[in-house]
Amino acid sequence: MTDKVVLAYSGGLDTSVAIKWIREKYNLDVIALTIDVGNERDFSTVRQKALDVGAIKAEVIDGKELFVKYFIFPALQANALYEGQYPLATALSRPLMAKLLVDTAVAEGATAVAHGCTGKGNDQVRFDVAINALAPSLKIIAPAREWRMTREETIDYAQRHNIPIPITADSPYSLDENLWGKSIECGVLEDPWAEPPEEIYTWTTSPGNAPDKPEYVEIGFDKGIPVTINGQEIDGVSLIRQLNELAGKHGIGRIDHVENRLVGIKSREIYEAPAAVVLIQAHQALEAMTLSKDQLRFKQKVSQECADLIYNGLWFSSLNRDLAAYVLSSQRYVTGTVRLRLFKGNSSVVGRKSPKSLYSLGLATYDKGDEFDQSAAEGFIHLWGLPVRTQAQVQLIGEPDGPLSIPPPKQAEED
Ligand code: ARG
Repeated sequence: MTDKVVLAYSGGLDTSVAIKWIREKYNLDVIALTIDVGNERDFSTVRQKALDVGAIKAEVIDGKELFVKYFIFPALQANALYEGQYPLATALSRPLMAKLLVDTAVAEGATAVAHGCTGKGNDQVRFDVAINALAPSLKIIAPAREWRMTREETIDYAQRHNIPIPITADSPYSLDENLWGKSIECGVLEDPWAEPPEEIYTWTTSPGNAPDKPEYVEIGFDKGIPVTINGQEIDGVSLIRQLNELAGKHGIGRIDHVENRLVGIKSREIYEAPAAVVLIQAHQALEAMTLSKDQLRFKQKVSQECADLIYNGLWFSSLNRDLAAYVLSSQRYVTGTVRLRLFKGNSSVVGRKSPKSLYSLGLATYDKGDEFDQSAAEGFIHLWGLPVRTQAQVQLIGEPDGPLSIPPPKQAEED
């Protein structure tokens, strides 16, 4: 009996060619596995294409709910943004795909799994590290990393083997899409000085053409998880979809990022992530009301660690589990509602409220009702400034070029 391999199949050029190529090169039966993570596609066509090209079996798994529950929402609670910009849509989907690939391989008695990543990107790292962690005995085949074909040669291979070439093969761009966002690279985008052409954007209206009237949206959170839009309860998948639509219509969520890949390359990437941008912004605004100053400062460091480990393919590590436990604990009181104004490419937080808010009007107000004891400020400042005063007296007063020595203003020249 021929051994089997489970291939993560997108329906695109590379993974279609991979079905034939694996058969020729490794003499394995290919089972195509397509995972629906919210990339709007006609999955029955994708499935049929895999069979037409030569897969012995083709399966589609709906991974949307798992993706939201175990990957997107924990990343949102962590405010995970790689290098402060990229909400990690592609990066978050890889460990889930690896898990489903491995599960399918076990169920099918396959000896190997395969994916369509090249040898230059982060995705190969995420797949391989995750697969090795989950099932070290499975062989990993990465055709696009092994075959050393250029894009033209790949198209030529497809033509010679009667593999239908998707119209998207005409496009110079490499795309990846899921619920949390769309990643766009290659083509003219490789010139970091070139403004991205409007044609690459399919999720967002150009801000200039966005509606002339602002739109308001209220997002309700329960322990850091978004659960309502404008007061209506809604499941996670639908909530993200609805916000992608709404914020995208107002031109929100375009990101132009020169990022540092794990393999050492700087690359220019464009992202569209309307829901992610709005949700992270709203979530941070609610945290500002419900976490203490020290919790907020510490959480920023945790966020950065989380983003890095997601980007770097370390999802299935104990560090991720440990950080996730901290993040989850930090969300105990992150419950409430945030109101945002969406207008011509920008979303702004214009209101927030929480039953567990640490904001106290009695302490903050300059009007009547002030509960803050201003007389206590004097003693507080006396002690707070003690080390500065001491240092000034002992070391700094009269020190040339010291921190206290600002030269006097130049005299106006007399004419
Ligand atoms: N640079 C992003 C990342 O590493 C996006 C990768 C997009 N992948 C793709 N196959 N087009 O997460």
